[in-house]
Amino acid sequence: MHRQKDVNPVYRDLSQPVEKRVDDLLARMTIEEKIGQMCQYSGFNEKHEALLRKGRVGSFLNVTGVENTNKVQKIAVEQSRLGIPLIFGLDVIHGYKTIFPIPLGLASTWDPDAVKKAASIAAKEAASEGTHWTFAPMVDIARDPRWGRIAEGAGEDPYLGSVMAKALVEGFQGANLSHLDTVVACPKHYVAYGGAEGGRDYNTVDVSERVLREVYLPPFKAAVVDGGAGTVMSAFNDLNGIPASANRYTLTNILREEWGFEGFVVSDWNAVGELMSHGIAGTPAEAAKEAVEAGVDMDMCGDIYQKTLDQLVREGKVSEETVDEAVRRILRIKFKLGLFDNPFISPERAGEVILCKEHLDAALELARKSIVLLKNEGNLLPLKTNLDSIAVIGPLADDHEAPLGPWACLGDLENVVTVLEGVKAKVSSNTKVLYAKGCEIEGTGTEGFEEAAEKAKAAEVAIVVVGENRDMSGEAASRSSLDLPGVQEELVKTVLDTGTPVVEVLMNGRPLSISWSAEHVPAILEAWFPGIQAGYAVADVVFGEYNPGGKLPVTFPRTVGQVPIYYNHKNTGRPPSSERFTSRYLDLPYTPLFPFGHGLSYTQFEYSNLRIEPASMKVDGAIKISLDVKNVGDRKGDEVVQLYLRDVVASVTRPVQELKGFKRVTFEPGEKKTVTFTVSSRDLAFVGRDLKWIVEPGTFKVMIGSSSQDIRLTGSFEVEPS
Ligand code: GLC
Repeated sequence: MHRQKDVNPVYRDLSQPVEKRVDDLLARMTIEEKIGQMCQYSGFNEKHEALLRKGRVGSFLNVTGVENTNKVQKIAVEQSRLGIPLIFGLDVIHGYKTIFPIPLGLASTWDPDAVKKAASIAAKEAASEGTHWTFAPMVDIARDPRWGRIAEGAGEDPYLGSVMAKALVEGFQGANLSHLDTVVACPKHYVAYGGAEGGRDYNTVDVSERVLREVYLPPFKAAVVDGGAGTVMSAFNDLNGIPASANRYTLTNILREEWGFEGFVVSDWNAVGELMSHGIAGTPAEAAKEAVEAGVDMDMCGDIYQKTLDQLVREGKVSEETVDEAVRRILRIKFKLGLFDNPFISPERAGEVILCKEHLDAALELARKSIVLLKNEGNLLPLKTNLDSIAVIGPLADDHEAPLGPWACLGDLENVVTVLEGVKAKVSSNTKVLYAKGCEIEGTGTEGFEEAAEKAKAAEVAIVVVGENRDMSGEAASRSSLDLPGVQEELVKTVLDTGTPVVEVLMNGRPLSISWSAEHVPAILEAWFPGIQAGYAVADVVFGEYNPGGKLPVTFPRTVGQVPIYYNHKNTGRPPSSERFTSRYLDLPYTPLFPFGHGLSYTQFEYSNLRIEPASMKVDGAIKISLDVKNVGDRKGDEVVQLYLRDVVASVTRPVQELKGFKRVTFEPGEKKTVTFTVSSRDLAFVGRDLKWIVEPGTFKVMIGSSSQDIRLTGSFEVEPS
């Protein structure tokens, strides 16, 4: 029996500790109401309203706006028996209405403080209109750029991915979840979703325990343990034979027992129901049992828990304690968010924060920082703003949609500044700006080439903006080719053949195998999908108001045939070389087109004076690594100083290099600064032969560089036996 409604129950008393309020409320709930908390639906309709009045819905996603969220919340709070408030979720991936660069672009800044700021702005805007929960950050490591969702994460490296995961969670959640300007984060997709075979979305993942622990789990651990994420989303994929949304080993043994996660797990969209398609459940009830006992607390849009869990409990096939534990986790977050105490949103807040100047300025700052200068032969860039004429060409030159990327939340196309608009705003009033689309992003039509060539001939320089449309990235957007789609490469060739110098600007969501451009085009910028301030950011970089300092968070292959290709690879017994009988291709160099960590500047940086102190450390000790960096050019600029280590001999083969530190530092012309890293045993650990984390004595090579391949200083230190 559950207690009758008393006047001021403990769960409504905000002076009581959260755990007491959870216990009191749980004790009052029927099994149907408990299961209701474990059910999430998308949008709001009559069916949902009927369930809600019975207290059988815990959350909605895609219900947005002050009016809508307050209306639906009012039904939950005032017209259901216990008045348990809803938690409203939304995909606020890289902005709510002020849209920032896609996460792969944010990672290209190598600036966690800036990225954290972007997340805090996104949270502030989303919370001001009634969203409590973002299904972000996406922290899946991706080594296969055919996978469209590489756009949503921080790239191929566990260390960079972990730093970004922590920064994003802290940005979304702020210092206290009950603050009005914060939302609870949801690192996703747990786990190893990026390891899909063939780079094909939703495909099978089968990785070793060592790769799982050293590559795919670290960013989730950083998000949950270091960042304090309040929720986690379980993934679609099969993981070593047990789907991620039915995998008790990852969802409970690792996430909860090893890491101490106390929040709740929501499945990805109908991932519970899809356990039947995976073939590990024959019925919806079996799917529900598999998922809830593995550790999935909330069923996103599957309607499986709603339809089967109460009978499973009545039949004793699922214990009520299992349900209680899931509900406890969900209620705990709702209490921490302050939803019981402040369930409604005041309309004024949204008007104060959404798309305000501070936010737009931040979007511009992040977009500038995210741009990577891939090539700048003959210092063609930066351009002068007082040129007589400039041509802006390409299917993405004046595109308002692509810069928003595949998860644009509530971003409006009308707020997007295109490259053409940015260039026009930047150049002098005497400069003639000529525009030609040239071709579509896809398709074979070249009828626009003639006009493009004419405009290029009539200009002193041509900016050609090519890449992908945003639907070629994100979910269910895997490509079998990494080439520029359609006839865009031919367009670049056509423009280059006019003899007018070309600046190629890429707008895309994955590494592209632009080998021809890399060989023939003098200047190439990687802009990713840069958000609503795209045009201003590109123009600031092209015309030198901002000196680019971004670095690649992913390797660019020469061709898709090299995939998977990533920087932190093993040495093998026959490392690639010019020798025939080594790990190489007959028909292609084995090196990437552009390496992980690559990015140029309009100035140059000199590295010197490497100090490694002490020269050796105990297993539980620490090493300080310092060096001097000097800006030897005449422009202010940022340099991302990167620290790579190599465990030269170990009981398990180790990567030839691993990123273990980085700092993005700003230098005035001529300025020299000392950059310091501290390396501890946490940075040296790896999964040993017994699958336990260990640090072994031995020699560690130190590589400091401007990219994973552009190593400027080397040294080493010893780890002594303890
Ligand atoms: C989608 C995506 C996930 C997203 C969720 C809600 O299927 O996989 O990333 O957060 O559904 O939109």
